Amino acid sequence: MTETQPTTPAAQPGGSSSPSLENLLHETRAFPPSAEFAAQANAGADLYAAAQADRLGFWAQQANDLITWQTPFTETLDWSGAPVARWFADGKLNAAYNAVDRHVEAGHGDRVAFHFEGEPGDTRTVTYAELQREVSRAANALTALGVTSGDRVVVYLPMLVESVVAMLACARIGAPHSVVFGGFSADALRSRIADAGAKVVVTADGGYRKGGASALKPAVDEALAPKEGAPATTVEHVLVVRRTEQEVAWTEGRDVWWHDIVDSASDQHEPVWVEAEHPLFILYTSGTTGKPKGILHTTGGYLTQAAYTHRYVFDLKPESDVYWCTADIGWVTGHSYIVYGPLTNGATQVLYEGTPDTPHKGRWWELVQKYSVTIFYTAPTAIRACMKWGDDIPASFDLSSLRVLGSVGEPINPEAWMWYREHIGGGSVPIVDTWWQTETGAIMISPLPGVTATKPGSAQVALPGISAEVVDDEARAVPNGSGGYLVLTEPWPSMLRGIWGDLERYQETYWSRYEGLYFAGDGAKKDEDGDIWLLGRVDDVMNVSGHRLSTTEIESALVSNEIVAEAAVVGAADETTGQAVVAFVILRGEHADRASSDDGAAAVQTELRNHVAKEIGPIAKPKRILVVPELPKTRSGKIMRRLLRDIAEDRQVGDATTLADSTVMDKIAAGLKAPA
Ligand code: WT7
Repeated sequence: MTETQPTTPAAQPGGSSSPSLENLLHETRAFPPSAEFAAQANAGADLYAAAQADRLGFWAQQANDLITWQTPFTETLDWSGAPVARWFADGKLNAAYNAVDRHVEAGHGDRVAFHFEGEPGDTRTVTYAELQREVSRAANALTALGVTSGDRVVVYLPMLVESVVAMLACARIGAPHSVVFGGFSADALRSRIADAGAKVVVTADGGYRKGGASALKPAVDEALAPKEGAPATTVEHVLVVRRTEQEVAWTEGRDVWWHDIVDSASDQHEPVWVEAEHPLFILYTSGTTGKPKGILHTTGGYLTQAAYTHRYVFDLKPESDVYWCTADIGWVTGHSYIVYGPLTNGATQVLYEGTPDTPHKGRWWELVQKYSVTIFYTAPTAIRACMKWGDDIPASFDLSSLRVLGSVGEPINPEAWMWYREHIGGGSVPIVDTWWQTETGAIMISPLPGVTATKPGSAQVALPGISAEVVDDEARAVPNGSGGYLVLTEPWPSMLRGIWGDLERYQETYWSRYEGLYFAGDGAKKDEDGDIWLLGRVDDVMNVSGHRLSTTEIESALVSNEIVAEAAVVGAADETTGQAVVAFVILRGEHADRASSDDGAAAVQTELRNHVAKEIGPIAKPKRILVVPELPKTRSGKIMRRLLRDIAEDRQVGDATTLADSTVMDKIAAGLKAPA
């Protein structure tokens, strides 16, 4: 734990849009479910009772009810190797078979799996039968490229049907995929490819974003090019989807067009039956150090919980619902709530390639109207952006098909929650605020529509089968009305099975803070009813637009620029994005003068922002970069980010008595009078 770790998380929430203890104490509204909704809901209070009575029996039943096993399991949980769990370990299954084939076999081949909508307006409808053929072809093509069970495949694609197909094709042959968000840079891609030891990369020429074609393939070429000090790449082939028809550089022998080998492959393929604990995917996420963590998920438990949560939290009726999750498949939300959960449940979905404001700010609502979307799942940052754009925009579309709304990624402030309910949900649609993490694999804490009386801004209760608690520094459960740290007290089916290649870091990061408890890294409080309110991260992880960024990772990127001597990054409260990246940098001696003029400072700012975009990706670009003469440090040399956050949020600077040099904050403040 670092100096920035506050003793009581409630005193140090993640940002103004993440609710602070004070303003949440005033939030007392509650919205009980309507009788009509409750009468038709998948979930009832009995679900909690069943899980309470026999937790493992409950999970075994979910696994049997929701998943098709090629070999049934006999043991539900083996926790003898804690903290690495084994769920349903002697069972065998295939995730792609569960997501696709069995629906076709059950006579639902004609059901639409995806209504794809490209940003330029092109559309494609894919039924489950078509999806089965396409996934089979892709599985045959990957096999032809030499990929076999256990080999890793990196997927670096925009939001296309092929992206889902590529993931499922990997699952079909037992090759764990590692999807890298298309917004990550070549360098970020290189390190993930290397860490995963990938054999194949699946990418596209480009994708459409914000009204234009944005190239992807060049980043792959750069990531695979030999680089001094970097290990030789393990990648043998790059499989390229044609989307934008941009010119691409071609490496003969290595690069292969998707349409050349997938389209001509056989559409018959026998899935590879894997053990329940066979790795399904690795997904990199930011931690408190500079090196991203490869979060490892396996097959049986993950699929069970993804399907279970999707069915009950969203009240999915696969025959009649049209479900739309706006996440990108590059994040865990896309994995669990576009690919594995919804498809395993046989849902019909909208898959949208682009941004919400292209070509106009009503694009999402236009799509809700067009496809009569019934269940909609998005992030608070998007809701706040829509709020800012104005009520009249959603009001000009027919949103009456909506019946469940979801939120994920960061605490949703009560104002945004109420706006979502009123302006998107017509004042009556239940909202589920779902708390979970890349590590948890699936939703852990959320109201159940039709059961829970929802409260604006609270994720409220652990789902049936899940055990969460808010504890103090000594691991004691806090009383109602108090704040502390969120922990998970029992293993759950979709929990991570470790960090790829670094079991020790897994143990250290999540299990060393409290004996036998999973430490989530989030502050939380329990209200008078015992409902849980999330208060934001308590470690050096920021949450910008629902994306996790590491302060340390951005600091490393900044100091890798030749003009920077030292850097400190904080997440400052931001009205729209929740938190925004604010960097404080000390320039190297010979460059120190560059920031003394306004023009110079602006140039430094631009140069460094572009540098971070190149090192990590545009999402990590600092919103503000402040050039300072010194950084506030403790006697042991730790940067006191808390004080920097005060500056970044224009607050009176807090207690600085533990600084090695107590005049530092004055020096910093003096320098900032000039625009930086
Ligand atoms: C962190 C996990 C879960 C998929 C998207 C993000 C924050 C997530 C909520 C919520 C308050 C939330 C937490 C968590 N978070 N959902 N409903 N209320 N905070 O996944 O990138 O792994 O980030 O996002 O801080 O630890 P992730």
